[in-house]
Amino acid sequence: QAAFSLKDACEPSINGDGEYADIDWNGLGFGLLPADYMFIMKCSNEENFQEGQICRYGTIELSPSAGVLNYGQGLFEGTKAYRRKEGGIYLFRPDENAIRMQIGAERMCMRSPSIEHFIDAVKQTALANRRWIPPPGKGSLYIRPLLIGSGPILGLAPSPEYTFLVFASPVGNYFKEGTAPLNLYVEDEFHRASRGGAGGVKSITNYSPVLKAMRRAKDKGFSDVLYLDSVNKKNIEEVSSCNIFIVKGNVLSTPATNGTILQGVTRKSIMDIAKDIGYQVEERTVPVDELIDADEVFCTGTAVGVAMVGSITYNGKRTEYKDGPDLVCKKLYSRLVGIQNGIIEDKRDWVV
Ligand code: COI
Repeated sequence: QAAFSLKDACEPSINGDGEYADIDWNGLGFGLLPADYMFIMKCSNEENFQEGQICRYGTIELSPSAGVLNYGQGLFEGTKAYRRKEGGIYLFRPDENAIRMQIGAERMCMRSPSIEHFIDAVKQTALANRRWIPPPGKGSLYIRPLLIGSGPILGLAPSPEYTFLVFASPVGNYFKEGTAPLNLYVEDEFHRASRGGAGGVKSITNYSPVLKAMRRAKDKGFSDVLYLDSVNKKNIEEVSSCNIFIVKGNVLSTPATNGTILQGVTRKSIMDIAKDIGYQVEERTVPVDELIDADEVFCTGTAVGVAMVGSITYNGKRTEYKDGPDLVCKKLYSRLVGIQNGIIEDKRDWVV
């Protein structure tokens, strides 16, 4: 018997029919403001996903023995829909999220939607919720595809049923600092990922374990945590919700994706843009000591965008980085946003 049922499925929207949902579009942060509709699709462990449907956003029922609740068999993605000044709704590289979900599903022994199904579901969710896509310049609609082992299970094994859901929320800046530089704390007790683990895929199990380190750092006034590798504790890995880059002269360096680093879509896009405009990009082991001499440090992620780092505190020593209009990270971010907004040529067909 299916362990899942939807309440209020496919009821009409309660939020009116205007061009925009009736909310204050100024000062959006990253709080949840659920958009009217979500997409849902199910399959058993013996078949592929077939067809899904758009339904009213609402609670879902899960068996207490669902694989995701007991053994964390779940993956999520994040992508955004934007409006352009001249009209139209755009997505950025949704195929990359689809591929990443497939890679993650393989790692977690899950069924996954095909690339076409995934992109179609994201498009349907964006269009059904178009009134929740902020006006140009006010933010974006954050779209959250979620793949869960929804079938009941007791012994440790792949779930007998999978559910693919896509919901959405309008968002602005991820960090409460807005666009102000971040103050990061280098954590040397807790690690985000270890070799052979699932740190390289977007498993839901990668996120709660960082909450304790994050809370400790935030209680001390830091914006977030930068994690070190779990073997030598000498090399930087990732921030709780985003990838990290350092800049020295003409060279951008970021930790290589060796299984513990999430293959960020923004990370990958920024590397391509940097190469296009003449920077050298290195994916390699980045010793924490290099932070001391770096000209700039910045973070990348779908939720985060490109966020400048203003300081990093490691072993009680605080290193500060200069701000200014000519920073490499600002140049790269404005090119990325330019491509997304149609101001800069999209020569790789990133925009959908
Ligand atoms: C994203 O950047 O889309 C993420 O999934 C990070 C999440 C912690 C908000």
